[in-house]
Formats: sequence, C-alpha cells, structure tokens
Amino acid sequence: MASTSTFLLLALTAFPLLCMGAAAFDYPPLVKGLSWTFYKSSCPKAESIRDVGLAAGLLRIHYHDCFVQGCDGSVLLDDSDGEKFAPPNLSLRQSGFNVINDIRNLLQKECGRVVSCADIAALAARDSIFLVEGPDYKVPTGRRDGLTFASRATTLESLPLPSSNATSLITALGKLNLDTNDLVALSGGHSIGIGHCSNFTDRLYPTQDPVMDKTFANNLKRTCPPANTENENVLDIRSPNVFDNKYYVNLMKQQGLFTSDQTLHTDSKTRDLVISFAVDQSLFFEKFAYSVAKMGMLNVLTGSQGEIRANCSIRNPFRADEALSTLVDGDGEAAAF
Ligand code: HEM
Repeated sequence: MASTSTFLLLALTAFPLLCMGAAAFDYPPLVKGLSWTFYKSSCPKAESIRDVGLAAGLLRIHYHDCFVQGCDGSVLLDDSDGEKFAPPNLSLRQSGFNVINDIRNLLQKECGRVVSCADIAALAARDSIFLVEGPDYKVPTGRRDGLTFASRATTLESLPLPSSNATSLITALGKLNLDTNDLVALSGGHSIGIGHCSNFTDRLYPTQDPVMDKTFANNLKRTCPPANTENENVLDIRSPNVFDNKYYVNLMKQQGLFTSDQTLHTDSKTRDLVISFAVDQSLFFEKFAYSVAKMGMLNVLTGSQGEIRANCSIRNPFRADEALSTLVDGDGEAAAF
C-alpha cells in the first residue's frame, strides 16, 4: 500500500507548482545575497502559486462521491447516464477527474492495481487541503470502487441545494447520520473554490436578501448582472486561496455566498458553532478533520463488495475473472497482480 508520503509525492506531481507552509524549524544564518522575502515585491506570487481551483475541485469530488450512495467512486464513472451527469455534478471540475486518473496510473506503476479510485479521491482531497494550508488530517483507506452508480434523481435528492436553510440542511445531513457539528464543520469546505452566479442570484434579484452585506451584494451584482448564470465568484471573499476559518468570519459579516452558507449564522441552531470556528481556527481544523473522516466513511464498500478499477472513469469489464484473480490477504489488502 502506498504510504502517506508516497501518495503526497505522487499527488504533488499533479500540481503545477506549490509551496508548502514552512513549519517553525530553526534555520542556519542565510548566506549573503539570499533572503526569505527575495521576490516579495518583484513577484509576490513566486512562492505561492498553486492550483487552488484544482484543490477545490478535488475536495468537492470527494464530497459529491460520499453523499451519493457512499464513497464508492461512483461519481467518477463516465459509463453512466446517471450520477456524473446529474445537474449538481456537471460543475465538478474535469481537471479533478483527470488528476484522479493520473494518480491512479502512477500508483499502478508503483504497486500494481491495489489502490481504489474511491481511496484516491479521499486522499487527493486530503492532500489538496494540506497544500492550501488546511489541516493535515488522516484518511483511513481500504474503500473499494462501486459497481453501480446512482440515477440522476437520486443524485439530486442526495445533494442539498444552495438555497437550503439550516433546518433542511440538518435534515438532509441527518439522513446520512451527520449531525449539526458535521454540517457546520464540513461547510468550511467553502473556504476555497468558486460558485456560479446561477447558484446565488436568487439572493440578488428581484429582491436583495436582507441578510447580505450591502457592499458585498453590490459587488456580486456587478459580477452577476441579471440573467447571467455563467460568471462566478469566489466562495470565500477574505482568503479564497487558503483553507482557513475566514469562511466563518464572512458569515458573521453577512458575506456568505449561498443561502446554505449564510443560514448557518442566521439560524440559532448553528450560529454558536459558526462563531466558535470564526474565532478559533485550530478548533475548526480539529472539527473539520473529525467530520471529513466521518464523511469519508459513508456507506463505503470493502473487500468483495466492490472492485479496484483499472480506469477510474469506467467499471472493470471482466468482473468474474477479477473475482478469481483478486486475492485478499489477512490485512484485508488486495494482493498486487
Ligand atoms: C452543506 C451543503 C452544501 C451545499 C448546498 C453546497 C453547494 C455548493 C455549490 C452550489 C457550489 C458551487 C458549484 C458551482 O457553482 O460551480 C459548491 C462548491 C464547492 N463546494 Fe459545496 N456545498 C455543500 C457542502 C460542501 C461540502 C461538505 C464540501 C466539502 C467538504 C464542499 C466543498 C465545496 C468546494 C470545495 C466547492 C468549490 C468547487 C470548485 O471551485 O470547483 N461543499 N458547493
């Protein structure tokens, strides 16, 4: 099985260029001519270019995978006219799907066909969050890839709408045994990434949502003139490129993008949690790590319940042969073949 560091290394190859947050280590005195801030004015992005959009795309793929019939890689399947092509999944990033397949191919070379696509999606989400300065949480592995996918109708039912209020979000997540803490912590996933105008213009037109900061609303109206559904806005206006707790600060300032975001602060059932995360990033990271692990274990398939795909976008063609050739050892890990 690929170790965490091996996986991270593989994942890094999929990111154009990155800069890991420097830990609080001791360093030797700098030689003349070098500086910790050499490009600060001439090229401020030199140390921070990383593909935040890809990171957001990978996190959202993992979420959409898990919420719809469990974390079984079914959202990755191209050979369906269902799940992947249901409306909420049409805005998942193709670059995310490509990276998951790239990683699968690298892991195939490294260890044979032993790592499932569902595990790759979970691990890629973890590494994405870490690369944009979020928590470095642990992911248990051993998921198998599903043999089925959900219908469009089931997919629509399983993913809450951005127009949802807190009560309906609590009900929706409750069906998955996720509680109010999980709802508020997981919504922090909106610390990175973008939303298309179509998902929030109902808050601007014909009447502006009263629970929206005026300047924020005016800026959104400029980005999303009436009838424009293609444009997009960052989900976290304070720090769109970093996974941090500023998303919750936005909510306190009535600068949440979707109704489903802002409602977490408006509703007394979730408000205290929002405030506690807004004032304490470590607490948010701790709770996010817990809840994302819970999400990552939703209805997983293990052992003979699923397969390990040779291509994350397509179910394996010869299921009967694979059942014979996949040996499962005492640790529950498939032997390489
Ligand atoms: C609680 C209910 C949720 C609702 C209603 C919701 C809704 C949405 C919507 C409408 C978008 C914008 C899609 C677009 O316009 O392209 C979005 C983006 C995103 N969501 Fe959620 N979401 C929810 C929960 C989550 C969770 C649990 C996570 C992860 C832990 C997550 C992570 C993301 C990310 C990272 C993006 C940005 C994707 C990108 O930039 O490609 N969301 N979400």
